[in-house]
Formats: sequence, structure tokens, C-alpha cells
Amino acid sequence: MNIAVIGTGYVGLVTGTCFAEMGHNVTCVDIDADKIEGLKHGVLPIYEPGLDDMVDKNFKEGRLHFTTSLAEAAQHANIFFIAVGTPPGEDGSADLKYVLAVARDLGKVMVSSYNIVVDKSTVPVGTADKVRATVQAELDKRGNDIRFDVVSNPEFLKEGAAIDDFMRPDRVVIGTDSEKAAKIMHDLYAPFMRNHEVIIAMGVREAEMTKYTANAMLATKISFMNEIAALCERLDVDVEQVRLGIGSDRRIGYHFIYPGCGYGGSCFPKDVKALLRMAQENGLDAWVLDAVERRNDRQKHRLAEKIFARFGTDLSGKTFALWGLAFKPDTDDMREAPSLVLIEQLITAGATIRAHDPVAIETATREMKQGWLDDGRVRFFEHQYDALDGADAMVLVTEWKPFRNPDFDRIKKTLTAPIIFDGRNQYDPSELKDLGFEYFGIGRGKVGG
Ligand SMILES: NC(=O)c1ccc[n+]([C@@H]2O[C@H](COP(=O)([O-])OP(=O)(O)OC[C@H]3O[C@@H](n4cnc5c(N)ncnc54)[C@H](O)[C@@H]3O)[C@@H](O)[C@H]2O)c1
Repeated sequence: MNIAVIGTGYVGLVTGTCFAEMGHNVTCVDIDADKIEGLKHGVLPIYEPGLDDMVDKNFKEGRLHFTTSLAEAAQHANIFFIAVGTPPGEDGSADLKYVLAVARDLGKVMVSSYNIVVDKSTVPVGTADKVRATVQAELDKRGNDIRFDVVSNPEFLKEGAAIDDFMRPDRVVIGTDSEKAAKIMHDLYAPFMRNHEVIIAMGVREAEMTKYTANAMLATKISFMNEIAALCERLDVDVEQVRLGIGSDRRIGYHFIYPGCGYGGSCFPKDVKALLRMAQENGLDAWVLDAVERRNDRQKHRLAEKIFARFGTDLSGKTFALWGLAFKPDTDDMREAPSLVLIEQLITAGATIRAHDPVAIETATREMKQGWLDDGRVRFFEHQYDALDGADAMVLVTEWKPFRNPDFDRIKKTLTAPIIFDGRNQYDPSELKDLGFEYFGIGRGKVGG
């Protein structure tokens, strides 16, 4: 099939590449000329494990194309995936300006007699109707008989495991009331489910709602567990033992019940906000969602609070080594990362930061205030142990694998004092105490700070 994927970011590039891998002919379109030029020369705009080889192979074999011109893509394609960003607007609602701009452009350039416009971006309930009306308005101006259906096909991939998620999906949600579109979408995804069928067909509005509900549910689990961790600290209970105790219940499960320093990324924060906004607009008090968001905002300050409690609120002359900057492991994505809140708080209190991340240093550098970099208040290191040199404490912010089982003797020798703040509960408090460390985790009772 001939597909165009519009928006070549974390979702669009993975979507386009995986469809090409399955033999489809795919054109990836982006308005960012540098991104497209880079991709044509094998330079990926994002870090995603395994993606570079797959892009390279499909590009060389002629199934994957890159362009800034939607009109050029529309010469061949009749299935258009909209995968542009839907950032939060000022009131928290999803800003649809990029999605609707693409819809307008599509109405201007589609040439095939029948087309499918697929909303893959995460969009509020009712967006498919807006996309349909926007495309149709442009087609009407052209006065031709081009037909199209709009399908909601939200994406559930996880950054860091995106290829595996796309190639072997838990489910593919397809929301449409058109039998023809449903059949084509089914055929398109068939190669991804040779083992067993995972397509869940539903209405368009239900598909739109499913995506928000899934993310809000996961965010809720995290915030709930962070609240329990806060209570554990007051009750002298180790939340990690509680986590194991509840995760073993199959109704609860082990996923997404890790206490930590808050969820970030491009999805959970904005999607919880957008769902809250949908509730407000429809006269519903969304108490649970409101609490999920408030707990998370608070949680992102937890590490700084622990550092202030240990070192005082004036951190002038103090240096902290951060391990991990990305909002989670295996990605360079820094959007809404807890590390950003922590860095801001520590610097405002007068501290200096030495930080390491396996892949996010470049994206993190773009997020820093220029003054911080110019006067050396924030310095990045390619090697995790170099970041520790002369620091007063190590702060683990992102649970990358190389941080899980580090050389504690080396950490102790390199820091000026053996102090660890563990924002992801990666280490055993008793073991670290035996090794002579002062240890502060999240919700680890009195033994863990
Ligand atoms: N990142 C994730 O893990 C993830 C997972 C599931 C769903 N989503 C959703 O998918 C959507 C895209 O997210 P993302 O993280 O890939 O975003 P992103 O910011 O990485 O990429 C968006 C891309 O769209 C391009 N773009 C904007 N306007 C355009 C236009 N008119 N024509 C062509 N390209 C245009 C931008 O230049 C950018 O490259 C969002 O709605 C997001 O909520 C994201």
C-alpha cells in the first residue's frame, strides 16, 4: 500500500519505518527541512534503539522516502497518517493547530479518488469530526469528487521500546464507522499480527477516548504509588516491600507501581491535562485526574526536598552529580523530565550540577538556560563516573541500566562524601549503609531517608 506519514517525530518516524519494514511504500513528511535532510543522509532526529538500522535499510531498499512536500507525497499515497504534535494549549487542552493545519493541507493536495486520513496523534474526543470538516472544506473549494474517510488509530508505543511495541502490538485500536476504511486498515496491520489478531475495532469517539484513558490510568497508578510512598516515609515502612506485596496480586500487577521522582515525557503530563480539560468543558469535576496531576507535580520536587533536608536550603558551594536526565531510560526525550525540575531547584538554591546521561546530553543541553552553561553551573559528562568527581552527593534521576549495578567503591572514592539520593529506588538501603553510604530513597522508611 502507499502510505504517507505526516510528522516525523517519535511516533511518525517509527510508524513509517515499521510500515516500510512490512513491505509498504511509505513517504515520511515533515515541515522541518533539517530533519528531512538529515534523514536522507542517515541522521536520525531522535534516539530510539534499533531505529537507525531499520531506517537505513528501508531507505536504501526504496520503500521509505523523506520529503518536506505533502503534495509530492500525495502523488502516490492514499492513506495519510497524521502524527504531528498535540502539545497542551494555555488552558491545558490539546492544541490542535498542527493537526488541523495538516488536515487543511491534505484537502488541498489529495489526488487519489479514495483516501483514508488517519489520526494517529493523540487527540481529544470529537477531533475526527473536525479533521473531516477541515479536509472537506478544502476539497469543496477545489470542486472535485475526491472521497475520504477519517479513522482514529491512536498509538500506544513506548519510547525506548517503540519498534518492538509497533511490530508486536498488544492491540491496534481502529475507530471508524466506514466498512471500507476498516477493511483497508485491517489489511494494513495484518502483517503485524500473524500470531493472533489484536485489532480492536470501535467507534471513532471511543478510539479517541481509549488513548487518553490508557495514559491516564497508567499515570494514576504511578501517582497512587507515589502517594503511598510519601505515607510510607512517615510511617517508617519500606514501600519497596509493599510494592512486591501488592504486585503479586494479579488484579494489580507489577507494572507502573514503581515509586519515583514523578512521571514526565511527552504524553502522560499533557494527556492527563487534556483529559482534565475535557472533563471541565463538559461540566464534570474530575477529582481523580486532578489528584493524579497534583501528586505528580509535587513528586517532581521530592528529590530537591530531600537534598534541602540534608544540606539546608542554601546550597552555595555545593555540587551535585546527576545520573540520568531523560524522562525515562532508553530515550533522549527530555519533555517534562523530572531532572529539569530538580536542576532548576538546585541551581536556584546556589548549587552546581555535574550531570551524565547515556544519550540525552544533547537534548538536555538545549533545555538548559544559556547562563547556566556559560558560567559552568551545569556541566555534562560523557562518562558516568566523571560526573561524580568532587560532587557532594550523587542523585540518581533516571534508571538507565548502567546505573543499576555501579561500582560503589569507585562512587565512594570519587564523591567528596558518600551520599546517594536514589530517585528510582534502584539500590538496597541496607546494603548501601553497610558500604558506608548515607542513602535517601523514595518511601523507604527511616532506613532509606
Ligand atoms: N512520543 C510518544 O511516545 C507518543 C506515544 C503515543 C502517542 N503520541 C502522540 O503522537 C503525536 C506525535 O508525538 P511525537 O512525540 O512523535 O511528536 P514530535 O514532536 O516528536 O514530532 C512531531 C513532528 O511533527 C512535525 N510537524 C508539525 N507540523 C507539521 C506539518 N504541518 N506537516 C508535517 N510535519 C509537521 C514536527 O516538525 C515534528 O517533527 C502526539 O499527539 C503524541 O501525543 C506520542
